Amino acid sequence: MSRAEKKLRYPESSVFYRNLNRVYPKISHGEGVWLFDDAGKRYLDACSGAFVANIGHGVPEIAKAVSEQLEKVAYVNGTAFTTESAEELAAQLAKLSLRGLDKFYFLSSGSEAVEAALKLSRHYWVEKNRPQKHKIISQSPGYHGNTLLAMSASARGHYKKIYQPWLLDCAMVPAPYAYRCDCGGNLSCRVCSGTILEEIILKEGADTVAAFIMEPVGGSSTGASVPRADYLRNVREICDRHDVLLIADEVLTGAGRTGKWLATEHYGVLPDIMTLGKGISGGYLPLSAVVAGEKILDPIAKGYGSFLHAQTFSHAPSICSAGLAAIRYIQKHGLIERAAKMGDLLQKKLEALKELPFVGDVRGIGMLAGVEFVSDVKTKEPFPRRLKFAETFTSIAQDLGLIVWPNVGQADGENAADRPGRSTAGLGRGDLVMIAPPFTIAEFEIDLIVSFFKEALEKTASKITVTGEIK
Ligand SMILES: Cc1ncc(COP(=O)(O)O)c(C=O)c1O
Repeated sequence: MSRAEKKLRYPESSVFYRNLNRVYPKISHGEGVWLFDDAGKRYLDACSGAFVANIGHGVPEIAKAVSEQLEKVAYVNGTAFTTESAEELAAQLAKLSLRGLDKFYFLSSGSEAVEAALKLSRHYWVEKNRPQKHKIISQSPGYHGNTLLAMSASARGHYKKIYQPWLLDCAMVPAPYAYRCDCGGNLSCRVCSGTILEEIILKEGADTVAAFIMEPVGGSSTGASVPRADYLRNVREICDRHDVLLIADEVLTGAGRTGKWLATEHYGVLPDIMTLGKGISGGYLPLSAVVAGEKILDPIAKGYGSFLHAQTFSHAPSICSAGLAAIRYIQKHGLIERAAKMGDLLQKKLEALKELPFVGDVRGIGMLAGVEFVSDVKTKEPFPRRLKFAETFTSIAQDLGLIVWPNVGQADGENAADRPGRSTAGLGRGDLVMIAPPFTIAEFEIDLIVSFFKEALEKTASKITVTGEIK
């Protein structure tokens, strides 16, 4: 078989693919919100890849800035040296960040940043002479990454099952997920207000809890569920009361995705530690960061002297140059303001999807939206998992030229903590897709998302029988 005839799938190709059971289209280039494959087909990248390509594809300024850095010096050992790229990127990020959160430790992925943030919380308590504080509390549904500590803190049963013997037990609080909360909007709801965190801290023993890690606005796990205005304020107060560090995982929501540089800004709350990733370099090179202030770093500076998390590529000038160029581009073109403005338009236009069959909810903020599918809109009954509704929809949409991001299992079962009154644990049902296009998207492209979406849903629905089976 000639190289040209070889299918881009396992085992014909030498690539160890993410999915070993599908054929992959080969992308040749991207421009703005569009991706083009080598067969000439184009795709509207309605989820910025994986919430990454915030500034759009094919921006020459970023490539030029990285190339200039590579010509100067591609790599230096971050233990021995600093570089102008790292210094300037940190300085620019500090200007955009919250006061008191202004020291940036650069890494290459969200998982690494979360892993490091959790380790940093533990290191802090050891330096404060409270070594018994080691437990992590997180949210369910919730996702923080694929390395072992980050996965331990994630509520993704199907990711965790195989690796369970290596994972830590993390206590979990139900995440604010209004669509599926039984409270019906009751202001005193312990889950929606976040006050349930205090019960979990007390149950675990406050003296043993190092940190609470949370997503300030839900990512794919709760399909862009936006917490109530008082949620972050309440969890901040509870963390303060019990000497628990608050870690905001802004890997997905940061870098302007929700219409402000940080999602936390919507709530006026200062976390102790924060993570950034995905969109901070617009995807031009893999860049992430752990962010902390002097409160956390001073005890380490006076104690052990360094944070025990050296990685070969941390602080590397090449990745920092991509981040710096992306931030300059965002500022030059007012892309955060644009994310807020076009985000309002996106949310408004997506409202039309609520009229479609099987759409239970459409929600979000800024350029981050989730569409939840259900078999019965009135009862919110999820589809049986065996139908793979979200995956089928996503694959049909891709065939039509629309790229969305699916998530499953959030309605109950594997991803859900013990919600008061829920007895569906283990079923792993729930189907949703995310829409999170580049901030540069034009109005007619938002309209295209809506029309592609309708067509993809019609085609998906035509495969389902009235009794909810697949034809
Ligand atoms: C909130 C959040 N944290 C962490 C991660 C892990 O990031 P990465 O996939 O870059 O390792 C993700 C990835 O989706 C995420 O959504």
